[in-house]
Amino acid sequence: MSLLKYVDRKNTNCAKWDGLEHSFSRGDLLAMWVADMDFEVPECVSDALKSYIEMGAFGYYIPPADYFNAFIDWERRYHGYEVKREWMRFAPGVVPAFNWLVQILAGEGEAVAVMPPVYYPFMKAVENNDRRLVEVPLLLTDAGYAMDYESFEEAIVREDVKAFIFCSPHNPIGRVWKKDEIRRVLDICKRHNVYVISDEIHHDIIMSGHTHIPSATVSTSYDDILVTLTAATKTFNLAAVQNSIVIIPDENIRAKWDAFAQGISVTGGNAFGYVAVQAAYERGRPWFEELLGVVEGNYKYLRDRLEAELPEVRVADLEGTYLMWIDLSAYVNTEEDTQELMENKCGIAVDYGAWFGGNKYAGCIRVNLATSRENIETAADRIIKALKQS
Ligand SMILES: Cc1ncc(COP(=O)(O)O)c(C=O)c1O
Repeated sequence: MSLLKYVDRKNTNCAKWDGLEHSFSRGDLLAMWVADMDFEVPECVSDALKSYIEMGAFGYYIPPADYFNAFIDWERRYHGYEVKREWMRFAPGVVPAFNWLVQILAGEGEAVAVMPPVYYPFMKAVENNDRRLVEVPLLLTDAGYAMDYESFEEAIVREDVKAFIFCSPHNPIGRVWKKDEIRRVLDICKRHNVYVISDEIHHDIIMSGHTHIPSATVSTSYDDILVTLTAATKTFNLAAVQNSIVIIPDENIRAKWDAFAQGISVTGGNAFGYVAVQAAYERGRPWFEELLGVVEGNYKYLRDRLEAELPEVRVADLEGTYLMWIDLSAYVNTEEDTQELMENKCGIAVDYGAWFGGNKYAGCIRVNLATSRENIETAADRIIKALKQS
């Protein structure tokens, strides 16, 4: 029996489906944008929440040792990362966490680097906090996307970069960075005293044949420049409970984080988040393994159909995340044309390439694969039909 249950999320205050009208030209699009899933959480999570709700008293809450242990066990078991309880801090999301870290680790007007195409809240975190954005685009090679180490180091020196927001695995292009790649980029940062904010929220969604390497496990010599951010959010479809984990092995950085968190009085989250996340890490693995198979199957299905029927479409290899990066620039080149194609001709809402780093990516789209095969088939049919007619 399948553990994974598709759920129709329309009319549930769902950002992805009920937010279409607000963010796109129409409300009746097939929603394949926001990075969450159209699946119910594992039953162990709903059961834990139900029994907590049935208990009925919702006064101030202390997260139990079992919450921390559940995460520590998960990291040890599935990522070979030995996290210590005292390194762990709370944030109500990875996005708030990197926004705070930008303020903690770089001063106003100081430079923070990112590698586009990348999750657009990285850029906003720098700009909205009045830090200086330094973009070092990934290189598109015959073997796929790669980091441009030379330009990165040059930019660090030229712009006096203080911090780097690293996306590992990398949204939207789906790379799972190899140990040597991580080591090279961390070595550069270490050489120039650049703090690294390693966003590893997608760390569990790894396709077969690939392994996620937590930045912190590459060498403890990076501890004094490194903060890792992760969560059960992507793994278990728990964005709405707003519970994420900040890992800070270095006591000086921890002291800065603590002073900041105390200054804004956000040192812990709501009880429901802790209850849900603990249950997911303790008992959600079988559900998650089924999910991984579905994501990989959806990826292969969509890739194979697009490649067979539209040879000019280029699909990035999916190594990790449930987000598929598709280059349609043989057909569309501007954001307007891509929008016209996706919204008016295909009736599909996607994340547009331009959001991840400007016009250079305007012919690309990011498609969310964490949905039913039926939705993936519909998307394939519509994209193929629209592009064959164009
Ligand atoms: C790289 C990355 N970081 C963070 C987030 C969201 O984090 P949160 O919902 O915990 O703020 C996402 C969601 O898509 C993401 O792709």
